[in-house]
Amino acid sequence: MGGAASVGLPPDLIEKAGRRLGIAALVYAATYALAYGSGRVAGDWSAVWGSNAFPQVPDFVAAGFIAASIGIFFFARSGVVTGQRLLDIGLVYEVVAAAGIDVHLAWGDWPEGVVVGGISWVCVWIVLFPLIVPSTTGKAVVASLAAASTTPMLYMVALAGGAPPIGPESLVPMFAANYICAGIAVVGSRMVFSLGSDITKARRMGSYRLVEKLGEGGMGEVWKAEHRMLARPAAIKLVRTGVGSGSGRSGGSGQHRLEREVQATAQLRSPHTVEVYDYGLTADRTFYYVMELLDGVNLEELVKQYGPIPAERAIPILRQVCHSLVEAHATGLVHRDIKPANIFLCRYGQDVDFVKVLDFGLVKRADEQSRGDVKLTEVGAFAGTPAYGSPEGAAGEGDEVDARSDLYSLGCVAYWLLTGRTVFQATSPMLMLVQHINEKPEPPSKLTELDVPAALDEVILSCLEKDKAERPASAEELDARLGAIDVGKTWSADRARQWWERHRPRRVASAPEPSEEIPPQVVKI
Ligand SMILES: Nc1ncnc2c1ncn2[C@@H]1O[C@H](COP(=O)(O)OP(=O)(O)OP(=O)(O)O)[C@@H](O)[C@H]1O
Ligand SMILES: [Mg+2]
Repeated sequence: MGGAASVGLPPDLIEKAGRRLGIAALVYAATYALAYGSGRVAGDWSAVWGSNAFPQVPDFVAAGFIAASIGIFFFARSGVVTGQRLLDIGLVYEVVAAAGIDVHLAWGDWPEGVVVGGISWVCVWIVLFPLIVPSTTGKAVVASLAAASTTPMLYMVALAGGAPPIGPESLVPMFAANYICAGIAVVGSRMVFSLGSDITKARRMGSYRLVEKLGEGGMGEVWKAEHRMLARPAAIKLVRTGVGSGSGRSGGSGQHRLEREVQATAQLRSPHTVEVYDYGLTADRTFYYVMELLDGVNLEELVKQYGPIPAERAIPILRQVCHSLVEAHATGLVHRDIKPANIFLCRYGQDVDFVKVLDFGLVKRADEQSRGDVKLTEVGAFAGTPAYGSPEGAAGEGDEVDARSDLYSLGCVAYWLLTGRTVFQATSPMLMLVQHINEKPEPPSKLTELDVPAALDEVILSCLEKDKAERPASAEELDARLGAIDVGKTWSADRARQWWERHRPRRVASAPEPSEEIPPQVVKI
């Protein structure tokens, strides 16, 4: 998971990891002193050094590693450097300490013909360390590889110092073991780190506990969530706002706009507009809002999974979208990103094929993506999804975008439902925008084997008019025109129910587990 909606470890876990780093360094120092000391007293190094008397160069080096580890212990406790930076220093220590374990290689103190192979203590250190100090995958890869590379490097030092080479039958397993352990370490680190970031998410949504990720789009992630006190299941959308995860000026302005749009959406009462329960800012200033949890599939997935749908089913779906838009437009709210992924087809109580329109006003505007200072709607900035964007939006005429732009996009959605294709097929977003501005669309009936009545062709093409004035004047009018079309067949409630039973049988709702106390950390805006 990337971007601003991705999260790190919660601060208290980072702090604990810092303390564990100190303890690990102390244990390292003690073990090192014991192992080195006993080996030094018992072993006869005169073969390598000509004398066994204290102190030799290796004694000083060993003392250095022990002292550095004790130093890290006190440093971690001192509070001079805390948080993530302390953990980063910990990663450097990981590499130094790995070198410390194998430093004896540098003296070439191996008996001739010795088989040095398999798992060494360096391996153990490499695998254990990420569990003590979790880090992002990138950092774990760098630190583990560097730690694994200390053995080959020390061996090279030994060779340069004139030590006898070790045969490949020993060398290869010894080095390979290190790198295999580095791989294991990265996997372990990912697991520990993602557990930590899940905790962050679980806590930071205030009264809500995030249960599982439902999906991810251009603006962020959607999670299934549970409320601590209410039985009502919910979905939470975490929204990325502009550059710099919302901490910069652009993010701030984006958040104000989001806040207003979500507030406006929350006022809407059409049953076909998703119900918004709550919204807020997380402690790390990610904007989120809580909405009803829907059981179904969005129109993008619907057509991808089950193919284009017949006109008699498409029309009621489009009319329900109109119902949502009529109210929104009446309050001055333009959706701006009507596309199949933002229209959800669901079971709703006893109803099936029930439409909910999602993501009002949540489109990421180009001005927020590219510039620091933002006017809420800026001329010259395209907002939306190229395949479903209106010509006026494509031309960058932000102030020309109005309710009829949503109707254009709805025409594109109709096209998708009936044909399984987008209106234009350009390969790049830029060319797609150009086609929206210049190219005449084909009637949908030409692109599908399903029956599309001529009247429906006509209504869809009228939505797709380049000139706003030639489109239906309002969602109400579009709804009426769709309603007047005689399709011949009907998509009866029975047919609809059969479809749902066959393709998307009802999920048995599991009883919510009692969730632990979570301190509310949400800063209300
Ligand atoms: N309230 C909800 N209940 C259940 N599923 C939802 C809900 N809201 C969104 N989803 C699903 O979550 C997924 C992610 O939605 P999201 O809106 O992030 O993606 P998108 O629409 O593709 O992109 P965009 O960010 O441009 O809107 C989609 O599959 C969507 O259908
Ligand atoms: Mg969406």
